Amino acid sequence: MQVKLKDITKKFGSFTAVNTFSVTLEDGEMICLLGPSGCGKSTILNMLSGILPVTSGEIWFDDDNVTKDPPEERGIGLVFQNYALYPHMTVLENICFPLEIKKIPKEERIRRATEMAKIVHVDQLLNRKPKELSGGQQQRVAIARALVKQPRLLLLDEPLSNLDARLRLEMREEIRRIQLETGVTAIFVTHDQEEAMAISDHIVLMKDGVMQQYDKPQDLYDSPANQFVADFLGNPPINNLPGTVKNGEFVTEDGSVYARLSILDGIPSGKKINLSVRSESFVPMPDGAPDTVPCVCTGVYTMGKDETASFTLGGTPFHAYIDQEQGLKEGQTIRLGFKKRGVFVFDRESGVRLK
Ligand SMILES: Nc1ncnc2c1ncn2[C@@H]1O[C@H](COP(=O)(O)OP(=O)(O)OP(=O)(O)O)[C@@H](O)[C@H]1O
Ligand SMILES: [Mg+2]
Repeated sequence: MQVKLKDITKKFGSFTAVNTFSVTLEDGEMICLLGPSGCGKSTILNMLSGILPVTSGEIWFDDDNVTKDPPEERGIGLVFQNYALYPHMTVLENICFPLEIKKIPKEERIRRATEMAKIVHVDQLLNRKPKELSGGQQQRVAIARALVKQPRLLLLDEPLSNLDARLRLEMREEIRRIQLETGVTAIFVTHDQEEAMAISDHIVLMKDGVMQQYDKPQDLYDSPANQFVADFLGNPPINNLPGTVKNGEFVTEDGSVYARLSILDGIPSGKKINLSVRSESFVPMPDGAPDTVPCVCTGVYTMGKDETASFTLGGTPFHAYIDQEQGLKEGQTIRLGFKKRGVFVFDRESGVRLK
């Protein structure tokens, strides 16, 4: 089902939690709502489910304007962080429960619940009570219970945050598998960029109730719309080298380095910028090579397969992946150039991307 949010605003008193938010989410996709704590992710989910009324704007499910529909008429399955299973009911009874409310005959209830239990891989556990299950198993049951009604839309609010790191990895793949297998359109809330990058077709990245970018995960990484997006995605985080442009040259904040860089062509003199470079986008270059900056190596590290080095440029520290066959040493000054990918220029005042 296609989900359309049109100029959605949510105010709590004078505080605006979500601000003129518009996006169209495509049928059958897994979409991650990503952003820091308090940016309005749960508020959006709650407006989609109908638990919270919108202050203004419209919500469309395909050709239905559902903005004023009560939650039970929206055909939504919900999964939360705390699985909220009924403790006195067995796994089977928990999964059957939404069908019981809809007064579906017992035989069909059991058939559909058993089928769903198979899809989420809890069919061996049907007679257990929730307290006899691991966290991951409980979350599987919660997902089955949300899906058994065949919802038009599955909403998951940080469903993995109660799980330990390993189980979290396993369950995120499982949620993706279940979503693909059932074909349900799903919106998954997380503040974990890696989780979002790993399982979604599209990501909505938000900050302070405002959408920053809606894109495919890789496009968000390769082509960030602004400084916030560039900073939010990527581990290690992107390196921001502050400076200004003077007569076509990059001048570091302390005024110690001047370098002509073609990426700065056309950027007005005097503008305060960040030259933002992902750690994998630096390349050591010979002395005298054009489009390079002189960097002082402050450390060389090997961790597993990763060979990295720390540097400073005009007083700003940064990190780069550097092949150490080059024999790089601490204290050495080398010229670093840039790859095409992963190098951006942002306006330091507005955060707008210039290049
Ligand atoms: N009922 C409410 N009354 C007043 N303010 C609220 C209410 N619910 C949420 N807010 C505020 O709205 C903002 C967005 O909250 P929301 O719960 O949507 O954030 P979130 O992105 O889900 O954060 P988290 O990652 O911590 O769950 C926050 O600043 C929050 O304090
Ligand atoms: Mg939340």
